[in-house]
Amino acid sequence: MERTAQLVARPAQRTIAYDPADRSSSMHTRAARVLESNWTGASTVPSRGLYPHQWSWDSAFIAIGLRHLSPLRAQTELETLLTAQWGDGRVPHIVFNPSVPLDAYFPSPDFWRSSTAGRAAGAPRTVQTSGIVQPPVHALAAWLVHRADPGLSRGRGFLARIYPRLAAWHRYLLHRRDLGGGGLASVVHPWEQGMDNSPCWDAPLARVLPAPARSFRRADLDHGAPEDRPTDLDYGRYVRLATDYRDAGYADGKGAFAVEDPAFNALLIASEHALARIACELGATGTARHARAERLTTALLDRLWDPERGMFFCRDVRGGGLIPERGVSGLIPLLLPTLPREITAALVRTARGPHFSLDDTTRLVPSYDLLGEAFDPQRYWRGPAWFNTAWLLERGLRTHGERDLADGLRSSVLELAESSGFAEYVDPYTGAACGTTDFSWTAALALDLLHDEPAQDTHDIGETKQIKDIKGGDRG
Ligand code: SER
Repeated sequence: MERTAQLVARPAQRTIAYDPADRSSSMHTRAARVLESNWTGASTVPSRGLYPHQWSWDSAFIAIGLRHLSPLRAQTELETLLTAQWGDGRVPHIVFNPSVPLDAYFPSPDFWRSSTAGRAAGAPRTVQTSGIVQPPVHALAAWLVHRADPGLSRGRGFLARIYPRLAAWHRYLLHRRDLGGGGLASVVHPWEQGMDNSPCWDAPLARVLPAPARSFRRADLDHGAPEDRPTDLDYGRYVRLATDYRDAGYADGKGAFAVEDPAFNALLIASEHALARIACELGATGTARHARAERLTTALLDRLWDPERGMFFCRDVRGGGLIPERGVSGLIPLLLPTLPREITAALVRTARGPHFSLDDTTRLVPSYDLLGEAFDPQRYWRGPAWFNTAWLLERGLRTHGERDLADGLRSSVLELAESSGFAEYVDPYTGAACGTTDFSWTAALALDLLHDEPAQDTHDIGETKQIKDIKGGDRG
């Protein structure tokens, strides 16, 4: 097991200076310290106080940064999470640490009751988990982690061991979660999409009768300012949806809330492409997976694209129709390598326009429409800028040749991550820290941008051509 000093002091091999003063080495050290102090021995907590267990999409983003410090820990992070996978393929959004007191986080294991209520869905017996999921960033993360040290990865059989689990995870989403019948995966709770109190959920959530406030005790307010967090009314609805899902044995298809979200599905597509690369590395062919990813991309365009407003929107599967709120989630499909040129050009225009103000009046892209009625620069996903969405957009901009915008966004992420003390999220205008600090994915993704070679897009371009050929072949 590595020691703190080794992780922190490991020389930055491919460091790229992000400002003339070259603060990159102190940045590396500080980010590494955050990840070191949040490491529990087998995984990383998002934050020691606010989120004291293992979270699914956090772990994927954390592994992406951790690979620059310790590829072994990065592999372990993903392996630990996948050990808690359910028999039906779902990867739970929280894996609980049994040594953390029950009242440290709500909802706790005794709320989810995974090993009993989730028995029919194949919940593990020995680990306690939540029963909902989070965005499928894992195959993408696994591929990036593998590439950081292919020798170690092959020596440990890393990809060979996790490939069947990742494949089962995608199968669950593609089959059990196609609640709209159009080929896309639906989320059944706002916590699943990860942007908990986004205004995109206001309309579908309004149909949910909130659980009475006295029936639960929020632990998040012990660690965060109430004005930075979702409201009690939001929580009442989150609790009702989760209770109903649990009481139905975590069976899919019956709940009051079902939404097709652009970011969730774009991440599924990106991960499906990554799974194709993993299959090739393991000696199989990735063609069928790339082709599936292309079919999903077509479904995303058919079901969630709005040509008038130049971005993707959420679809309310229960209420019908697109939800007319501009969330940053609607820009994330820029990540996809094979989107038609007119779509990527429109997404870039929208990102730079008055609603998101990339490279203009904001310091980092907001989570929600700057002109939207519900915009609030501090309240969790109702406006603040988050580092994971910035990382995804940076990747998307680079993939589509928007080098200057990508470079600008990368500099902003690095600058704000450090100046905010690796905040959970920041005010998009001022960059002031909101939520908690020493937040793991902020440190991890800043590290990734510090160390990853921007030139890697050349690799992606070659591959994109290959995928486009598959797509052409499919159509032909
Ligand atoms: N994001 C949720 C919370 O704030 C859990 O997934 O607790």
